This record gives sequence, C-alpha cells and structure tokens, in this order.
Amino acid sequence: MVVSVKQLEKQYGAHRALGGVSLDVEPATLFGLLGQNGAGKTTLIKILLGLVAPTAGEASLLGQPVGTFSARREVGYLPEDHRLPEYHTSTSLLDLYGALQGIPRRERRRRAAELLDILGLAGREKLRIRGYSKGMKQRLGLAQALLHSPRVLFLDEPTDGVDPVGRKEIRDLLLEERRLGVTVFINSHLLGEVEQLCDRVAILRKGKLMVTGTVADLTRQKASWLIAFDRDMPASFRFAGATVEAVEGGNRLRVSLDPADGPGPPQSADAPEGIDRFVAAASASGLRLRHLERERATLEDLYLAIADGGGTP
Ligand SMILES: Nc1ncnc2c1ncn2[C@@H]1O[C@H](COP(=O)(O)OP(=O)(O)OP(=O)(O)O)[C@@H](O)[C@H]1O
Ligand SMILES: [Mg+2]
Repeated sequence: MVVSVKQLEKQYGAHRALGGVSLDVEPATLFGLLGQNGAGKTTLIKILLGLVAPTAGEASLLGQPVGTFSARREVGYLPEDHRLPEYHTSTSLLDLYGALQGIPRRERRRRAAELLDILGLAGREKLRIRGYSKGMKQRLGLAQALLHSPRVLFLDEPTDGVDPVGRKEIRDLLLEERRLGVTVFINSHLLGEVEQLCDRVAILRKGKLMVTGTVADLTRQKASWLIAFDRDMPASFRFAGATVEAVEGGNRLRVSLDPADGPGPPQSADAPEGIDRFVAAASASGLRLRHLERERATLEDLYLAIADGGGTP
C-alpha cells in the first residue's frame, strides 16, 4: 500500500478533526478525498506528510511510518493556499527547489522547462511571481510538486483558480503520471472533476469516513431513463410497469421502471427490455422518440445525500 491509515484520530484541543479514520490507497491510483469545509481532508494529508502529529492511530506512507525521511523524499505536495516567494521567477524558484532536493543542475533545468511547458507557463517563466495571476501561481505550485518526479503526489485542491483549459491539461498530466506508476491523492470540492479523473474516492464527514469505493461502483446506472418525444404524451397513453414524471421543466420525462420480477436490486443495470416496451407502446400511440438516456447516480447525488446528514460542522 502507498498509504495505509488505521483508526487515525486528531484532536485540536477540544475539537476532534479526525475521529478514527481507516483507509488504504494502492499504487498507481488516482484517489479523491471529498468532504465539506472543515471535514478533515487537509488534516489527513498533513498527518500523512508528517507535518501534523496524530493524536492516536497508525499511518504509514510507502510502507514506512509517516514522517520518515526516506518516504518523504518520494512525495510531491501542493498545499492549499500556498504562497510562493514573490521575488522569484518560475525558473529561479524551480531551480532553487530542485537544488534543495539534490537534483543535478542539468536535470533540474530540463525537468523545470518541461513542466513549465506542460503547465502552460512557457513564455512567462522570466516574470516575477508577484506578477502572476491566481491560476498561474497554482500551475507553478503543481510544477514545484512534480519537479523531482515523486512516486506519490498529495494535491490539496489542485485546480483551484485554474481555467477550464488548464484544468483539462492538469487532468491529462495527472493521468500520465498515474500511467507512469505515480499514486495521486487529491483533496477536492469539484465533484465532476473527481468523477472524471479519479479511480477511487472517499467522503469524509466531520472527521469520519462515510464511504469509500471505486467511482464506477459509486456512480452506477439506475433503473430510470430520461426520455423525450416529438410532442407531449396524449392523456390516453397507458403503460403498466413504469412510473412517468415530467422533469427539467417539462422538457423530459423520467421513466422509472418497476423492478422486473421479485425483489432484485433496484439499480439493476441488466433489464433494458422494459424501456424498449415503453418506447414501442409510445410509438404505437403516434409519438416519435427524440431523446433517450439512462440515468446514473452521480457523485454529487451521493455527496449531497451524505452532506445532508448534518451540513458543515
Ligand atoms: N491548527 C489547527 N488548530 C485548531 N484547529 C484546527 C487546526 N487545523 C485544522 N483545525 C480544525 O480541524 C478541522 C478540519 O480542518 P481541515 O483543514 O482538515 O478541513 P478540510 O476538510 O481541509 O476543509 P476545507 O475544505 O475547508 O479545506 C476544522 O474544524 C478546523 O477548524
Ligand atoms: Mg482543506
């Protein structure tokens, strides 16, 4: 395991930031940690980096107790709300950080130029950081985290303030890192982005892990469909075995199929015949199909259901 956490607790005075978290992250995974403001995401990352001491429990990184020097060498970190020294340029900053990390000069220059190019800062690398926009600082922060080609990346809100094109570039960059075997641990509030990017997610709520799983499992297909015809359904239309309701301001119908036979799982993805019969019945009554789409549970559905249990602490 790259990250292994058992019954981890963190108490800040009387406030319990983490209340017994257990979690494993396998190599070459894009792992997304979600949760409300104050849920404990940053605290967990800081414990894994050895920056904050846990109150109780165990945490290991690359098979060694957290805080071990040799494990830390293998880690890249993008803190949330980071501040880079403003009098540096991208080039001089990365050169300094690379030197501190012991990367030979020629290699760190090559790698810095490569990252600045990938992250869209090429051409602006001689500008002092005080002249950078928010998104440019964020891109440079990522370059800093990747400079020494770490085996594990901890990214706290990596695309915060970055424009849509930059976000796509960052997603592609992280997918490439994973392909090379890097494990990426991301804290984020951007559910759509996490759904697109991550293999596995976990949701923290008030310091407790509410759910962990693969994105594919957590966003399964539902037994309902969104459908549209060329005109409204005639009042005479009848179909047994489904419930129909108007959604999206009347532009779509949601057709929820009744479970076929017996108690089977309500989210069964293997019974499309029901919708075929529904469409056939509709066209027999003169309606023409214009749109048909199976509904999926999104990460947002799951997240909101969990957050609803109590809101922010
Ligand atoms: N140094 C500290 N001293 C006291 N309390 C702290 C400290 N650091 C964090 N906390 C508290 O611990 C809880 C978890 O904070 P943390 O920063 O881990 O949340 P988060 O999930 O990263 O939130 P956000 O989404 O806002 O970044 C919060 O209630 C916070 O006030
Ligand atoms: Mg945070």
